[in-house]
Amino acid sequence: MEKDMERILISEEQIKEKVKELAAELSKEYKGKNPLLVGVLKGALPFMADLIKEMDIYLEIDFMDVSSYGNETVSSGEVKILKDLDTNVEGRHVLFVEDIIDTGGTLAYLKDMFKYRKAASVKIVTILDKPTGRKLDIQADWVGFEVPHEFVVGYGLDYIENYRNLPFIGILKPEIYQ
Ligand code: PRP
Ligand code: MN
Ligand code: MG
Repeated sequence: MEKDMERILISEEQIKEKVKELAAELSKEYKGKNPLLVGVLKGALPFMADLIKEMDIYLEIDFMDVSSYGNETVSSGEVKILKDLDTNVEGRHVLFVEDIIDTGGTLAYLKDMFKYRKAASVKIVTILDKPTGRKLDIQADWVGFEVPHEFVVGYGLDYIENYRNLPFIGILKPEIYQ
């Protein structure tokens, strides 16, 4: 798979260091609050797994699977819920865990929905942020790295479902797309 890379953007070492930093900040913020960390499938899986292992506090985890309505009008932020939580979030401190925020559509929708479900707080941690992709006014509370306006893969991020298992984040060679 590494041969398909144009270049590596963020190394495995850089990711590890950043995950530890974020975990320390989040542990301080959520200590004593028994937060519910909600991973957004499938991209969030590697980050979520690494992050929770570095957080030395009581916490719970759950997952959602959502998909954007596949047309040009996705900027409405409307998403379809493929798998909902098993947990009641009323009164809970919810932390969404994401691999990347691009248009903001996915999280804008989820954040609103969880406020409606009366979560005590709803915050977001993402390992990557692509601010140049934004169509909706949504920001993560904690960001690992900002990435340029390029198609990135690895550490959860896919190209037609492949490359999620790369331990680094990279940019694919253009010929892979063709
Ligand atoms: C990707 C990514 C985020 C979302 C970000 O997920 O993992 O969840 O898109 O894009 P947005 O800010 O424009 O909504 P995708 O829907 O491709 O599913 P996946 O995680 O299963 O790859
Ligand atoms: Mn995703
Ligand atoms: Mg995807």
